[in-house]
Amino acid sequence: MSPVPSRVVGLFPTPVLHAERLLDPDLVAALVTRFADAASLANHQSERLSHTGTVSPDQDLQLSQVSALVGTRIAEFGELLFGERLPWLVKEMWFNVLEPGGHQALHNHANSFVSGVLYLTPSHPDSNTTFVRPLGQDAFVFRNTHAGSQTGPFNADKWVMPATGAGDLVLFPSGLLHEVPQNRGARRITLAFNAIPQRLDAWGYRIGFSG
Ligand SMILES: [Fe+2]
Repeated sequence: MSPVPSRVVGLFPTPVLHAERLLDPDLVAALVTRFADAASLANHQSERLSHTGTVSPDQDLQLSQVSALVGTRIAEFGELLFGERLPWLVKEMWFNVLEPGGHQALHNHANSFVSGVLYLTPSHPDSNTTFVRPLGQDAFVFRNTHAGSQTGPFNADKWVMPATGAGDLVLFPSGLLHEVPQNRGARRITLAFNAIPQRLDAWGYRIGFSG
C-alpha cells in the first residue's frame, strides 16, 4: 500500500444507456410477427443477416408507440452529449434478423447523433452487441497483450454489452463502432434506429435538422 493516497480519473467517458424491458412483451411479440419475415434485404458482409428497408415511425401505429417510448430516453441521453435537453427526432428505423451462424460486421451510423437498438429476442451470450474503441486514436506503438496481462477500461479494445433481453433498449453515440459476433444461438431479432436533435447551437451558429 502506497503511503500517499492517490486517485485515478477516467477522462472523457463514452455514454452507453441500457434500459431493461422498455417494451412490453405484447408489443415485442407484435413487432416480431409483423416485421421479422419482412427482412428481405441481404447484408453485404454476412449472408445470415438480413434487414428490412428503413421504416418511418410516423407511418405506423406500433412504431410510433416505440418511438414515443424511446423518445424520453433519447432526450436524457442527448443531454449527456450536448449539455442541453433538446427535442429529438427518430429519423429512421429498421429491423435486423440475424440467423444462427451470422454476424454483424464492424460499423457505425452516419448522418445521426444518437443510435439505438431494441432487442426483440434474447441474444446468445457470445453474440451480444460489442463496442469497439476507435482505431488509431490513442493506440500505443507497442502493446502489452499476453496471457499474464490484465484488460481494463484504459487498455481494452472492446466492450461487450452485458446480457440483453427481449424489450431492452440500448442507446449509444452514432459514431461509436460496434459489431455483433457470430450468432451461436437462435434467431436474433433487433429493431435499430437513428435519432437527430432539432438543432445545435455553437455560440449563435445554429444548424437545424428536420425530417
Ligand atoms: Fe449498428
